[in-house]
Amino acid sequence: MKKIAVFASGNGSNFQSLIDFSREEKLQASISLLVCDRPGAFAIERALAAGTPSFVASPKDFADKQAYESAVLQELRNEKIDFIVLAGYMRLIGPTLLREYDGRIVNIHPSLLPAFPGKDAIGQALAAGASVTGVTVHFVDEGMDTGPIIASREVAVDNNDTRESLQKKIQETEHALYPAVLEKLLNGSKERIES
Ligand code: GAR
Repeated sequence: MKKIAVFASGNGSNFQSLIDFSREEKLQASISLLVCDRPGAFAIERALAAGTPSFVASPKDFADKQAYESAVLQELRNEKIDFIVLAGYMRLIGPTLLREYDGRIVNIHPSLLPAFPGKDAIGQALAAGASVTGVTVHFVDEGMDTGPIIASREVAVDNNDTRESLQKKIQETEHALYPAVLEKLLNGSKERIES
């Protein structure tokens, strides 16, 4: 069974949904490690509760990004991780990790990329008056939310949507889409997954 490391910086609700799917055997992979760059993030408590090992390190405690990523890489090697899944990891992946995990790092983003990349995609969609936004899963490259798209799903923005209501719809979509896409990817599907 493939071993997945989830990288998260905050709440970790996507991390939780992957743990739950894996437990229910709806995801044929083991969620084997949490990598978290923010000590105190709620994702760490989720890992503890699930009995999933976590590697928590603050990049500012390292000389530079390369040193930080080398420490992460060592941990991934120790745990024999096959695949990296970014889930609210608010940091660009650098060459140290990209080289070793080329084509094996995916990210989920709360918009229909290439629209609204970067931070606060939900706020950006509301500010732009978009009537439709959504969720995108893509391979990770050196850019900000720029790698090849694997799957996307639309979410309607209603006139009376607030940030909270839109975020709720988007997260519900994420929690269903990400495990489904990962399951197909891990089974070797290279096709763009329509959803
Ligand atoms: C998710 O909505 C994810 O798409 C977003 O952060 C949230 C994390 O939520 N990621 C990005 O914006 C990446 N550019 P979670 O911690 O509850 O899973």
